[in-house]
Amino acid sequence: MPSLETDTANAAEFVIAPSLLSADFARLGDEVRNVVAAGADWIHFDVMDNHYVPNLTFGPMICQALRPHTTAPIDVHLMVQPVDALATAFAKAGADWISFHPDASTHVDRTLQVIRDAGARPGLVFNPATPLDVLDWVIDKVDLILVMSVNPGFGGQSFIPAALRKLAAARARIDTHERETGRRIRLQVDGGIKVDNIRAAASAGADAFVAGSAIFGQPDYRAVISAMRAELARTA
Ligand code: DX5
Ligand code: ZN
Repeated sequence: MPSLETDTANAAEFVIAPSLLSADFARLGDEVRNVVAAGADWIHFDVMDNHYVPNLTFGPMICQALRPHTTAPIDVHLMVQPVDALATAFAKAGADWISFHPDASTHVDRTLQVIRDAGARPGLVFNPATPLDVLDWVIDKVDLILVMSVNPGFGGQSFIPAALRKLAAARARIDTHERETGRRIRLQVDGGIKVDNIRAAASAGADAFVAGSAIFGQPDYRAVISAMRAELARTA
């Protein structure tokens, strides 16, 4: 598996990952092709099981069906419990990144290894009230840290400002880890990201941005993605 540094698909400074949760579920193939053609870097797959979160979305079969329609990395966000079997199934279905909530796994270290052994890049997702402490013991095993700026389960919610403090704390951990090991870790923010707050999230340390309703709720995907990139370019 290519390292984070050598993978050109991941070399971009900032990654914009539209969430399919807000896409037209009756035309998912078109939506994936159109949003990537409009400039999206990754496709964010919000997987919900109506157990870990009070909503139900899609499974590995949808990922497998969409895989041939794009070369963009598929970034699977598992809001499911238990995690391991579904994580393996999504890796087999072509997912490139697979992140899960540590409180949804009985054995976080083992689940991270299950994802990596299945050929995907593992990540951990932190809800608004979840501390980052687990990273003390497994940061060397994650390729992505996802800070939730809404409570998981639904698109279209308002951004929780405290997420900026958690992004800064996560960025400090990541930068220390990179200084000590040379290993890069993506810092992703997810929930309520819009053109008017994406720069604040980047300034706090995020370098990957999930946006669902801000993109799929607009008639012109290219215009909104370009506006987001213009904001990111202004980040000091
Ligand atoms: C929420 C999901 C988010 C959500 C983002 O549980 O993890 O990815 O779809 O949607 P917006 O960008 O509309 O807040
Ligand atoms: Zn998500």
